[in-house]
Amino acid sequence: MYSNILIIGASGQIGSELCQRLRAEKDEGEIVASDIREADDEVMQGGPFEILDATDIDQLEEVVYHYGIDEIYLMAAMLSGTAETFPMRAWNLNMDTLFNVLNLAREKKINKVFWPSSIAVFGPNTPRKNTPQHTIMDPSSVYGISKLTGERWCEYYHHRYNVDVRSIRYPGLISYKTAPGGGTTDFSIELYEHAVKRKPYTSFIEKDTFLPMMYMNDAIEATINIMRADPDQLSVRSSYNLGGISLSPGSIAGSIRAHQGLEVNYKADFRQKIASSWPSSIDDSMAYQDWNWQHRYQLEDITEAMLKGFKDKIKAD
Ligand code: SER
Repeated sequence: MYSNILIIGASGQIGSELCQRLRAEKDEGEIVASDIREADDEVMQGGPFEILDATDIDQLEEVVYHYGIDEIYLMAAMLSGTAETFPMRAWNLNMDTLFNVLNLAREKKINKVFWPSSIAVFGPNTPRKNTPQHTIMDPSSVYGISKLTGERWCEYYHHRYNVDVRSIRYPGLISYKTAPGGGTTDFSIELYEHAVKRKPYTSFIEKDTFLPMMYMNDAIEATINIMRADPDQLSVRSSYNLGGISLSPGSIAGSIRAHQGLEVNYKADFRQKIASSWPSSIDDSMAYQDWNWQHRYQLEDITEAMLKGFKDKIKAD
């Protein structure tokens, strides 16, 4: 059966690629893109697009009603770095949008929700290596606090109101199509972009700080897979660990240098404290057990795809 899907945050790093991928598949009904601001031409012209402030329940309900939406992917959020500058704005945006969507599902106005969580839910007392699904969670960033709170509410809405909400704790996501903006893991993307532009890069994260990272194609695959999984298979209704690979600025720079030159300097800023409180690697065996998740892209594959992607993009500009 076809579902009509609404993507909130379709101008953003994940939302834009998710939108294009779902539209290309044609396995679904209408894919409605929305964001508080305009998106890339591809997103705006490839199907319906609505300017939508999802913190406003009336605007959101109007779009859901107008298009007969069945499923929502809520990809709008303020990332970890920016959230430290605007704590209350981040909290309000990240929580109000989630409650609006969960309440629509509770009232049966939609029947399925995807909401992204993050490795930011972990904190300084969490075991850093191969972090388990269930462990100490004491996030110290504003972003992490909002994500952990969101996870608790997702699980609560599932158990209490039978809301079909599904979630993944994304690692840092690497992509060249749409820039993330304000995240602690943005250095990974900036390294590739500077390399292709032949510019020296100053990393705001130290050379040997390892973090779980993943290529965007894998993340989109995981998102679509969990949304299509049999609901009875999903034993986790807070959010699933998703591992990917463990990378540092130094390891990414080394992989780039196997292809071309790159000058990197290191000058840690406030985001180093956030990165140091996050895991270096993640145990995602629950995702494997429950919905057969396995990532595909290794560092070498990511480097090849990123260098080529940025080169083509620069040529086209
Ligand atoms: N990539 C995100 C960030 O750095 C983490 O979810 O904020």
